[in-house]
Amino acid sequence: MRAEATTQFDHNSTSFIADPYPQYEQLRDEDPVHFSERYGGYFILTRYEDVRKALLDWKLYSSAQPGVTSIPMSVQRDFPEIPLEVDPTEHTEYRGLVTRFFTRNAISELEADIRRIAVELLEPLREARGGDFVQEFALPLVSRVLAVFLQVPEEDAKRWVKWAKDIFHGRLTDRAQADRASRDMIAYVDGLVEDRRRSPGDDLFSALVTSRFQGRPLTQAELHGFGVLLLNAGQETTVNGIGNSLWYLAEHSKDRRRLQEEPGLLPAAVEEFLRFMSPIQLLGRNATQDTTLHGRTIPAEATVAVCYGSANRDTRVFPAADECRIDRHPNPHLAFGAGPHACLGAHLARAEMRVALEEIFARMPDYRIGSAAEVKLTPHGDLRGFWRLPVSTP
Ligand code: HEM
Repeated sequence: MRAEATTQFDHNSTSFIADPYPQYEQLRDEDPVHFSERYGGYFILTRYEDVRKALLDWKLYSSAQPGVTSIPMSVQRDFPEIPLEVDPTEHTEYRGLVTRFFTRNAISELEADIRRIAVELLEPLREARGGDFVQEFALPLVSRVLAVFLQVPEEDAKRWVKWAKDIFHGRLTDRAQADRASRDMIAYVDGLVEDRRRSPGDDLFSALVTSRFQGRPLTQAELHGFGVLLLNAGQETTVNGIGNSLWYLAEHSKDRRRLQEEPGLLPAAVEEFLRFMSPIQLLGRNATQDTTLHGRTIPAEATVAVCYGSANRDTRVFPAADECRIDRHPNPHLAFGAGPHACLGAHLARAEMRVALEEIFARMPDYRIGSAAEVKLTPHGDLRGFWRLPVSTP
């Protein structure tokens, strides 16, 4: 379906969610700085170069407002998620407090745990000859790995999954539920902070309670900002990355066989799945001054959506952008963003996606997806993934 040349474009509309790519193509070609009146009005940047430049140009496209990255905003917060909703130079100092936990080396130490949890979750599915790859595999895998990463009990993960879902989905359907979940999540972060103050270890939250920002300890609001982001950012995104890859490979058996025969291709394939079906399709920024792009003026204070999902399908950069080529090279996709806010958890997300595929190939290599009626897409256009992905094995 083609996007109509109106100002009512809505990334949460059913037609967009069902198939955003023809609409993106039309916007890139005909109206690359589209304005929609939905959600109080927002501009949508869809071309690769425009998105990349906006991500790098934080002075013009600012992230420094609580809730700005989500269109519409998820909850009314009086503190920013850190470091996501802060601009340099504060951003640089905040981010520096935690980067060492996210390096490739630090994440490689988690690989054995990722595999242990993946195998634990897959064995019952293998025995039952099927199950739901999202609800019974990707979701518990990602949240339990996050618990190991943060050095908190794995059982805590169940609570965050519910909160993160209520906050994100409640913004469109049930504000009160979103606010309640947000309060519960903050109370959990407070408990964690207290615990780490009493007995600090070598984990990320201990580093936060003992570190200094501009020469002073972090305030409670800053600790909330870090905590809420960490419990949210790495969950649904990575679940989507895993679910999207599994869906694609079920639909394309030639690529699945090739990957099973040439496992060395897995890292390249993971990048391509992220490009082809980007788990985050778009996030918001605020324009700080009037600017003109492709003949259209974006006024100061306007909300601007940077559309990673469209940039990653731009044929100006990716030959045959609408084809998923598991050995694509080069692949300068923007699925993890670019510039100061480029995803901190990228190494972790990549490791989870690769290990998930390796263990599924080892245990359920011939899985098939259930009927179309049972498969359920995420009902939000700013994220792309599956809520339900029932599979069976012969
Ligand atoms: C496939 C999975 C993932 C995708 C597609 C993804 C995507 C992104 C994107 C696009 C951004 C940039 C936001 C912006 O431009 O405003 C971002 C930032 C961020 N991500 Fe991820 N992410 C994923 C997994 C994770 C994981 C597993 C974690 C941590 C456990 C994580 C933590 C963060 C953090 C902390 C930021 C903020 C960085 C900053 O503002 O400096 N992400 N992510």
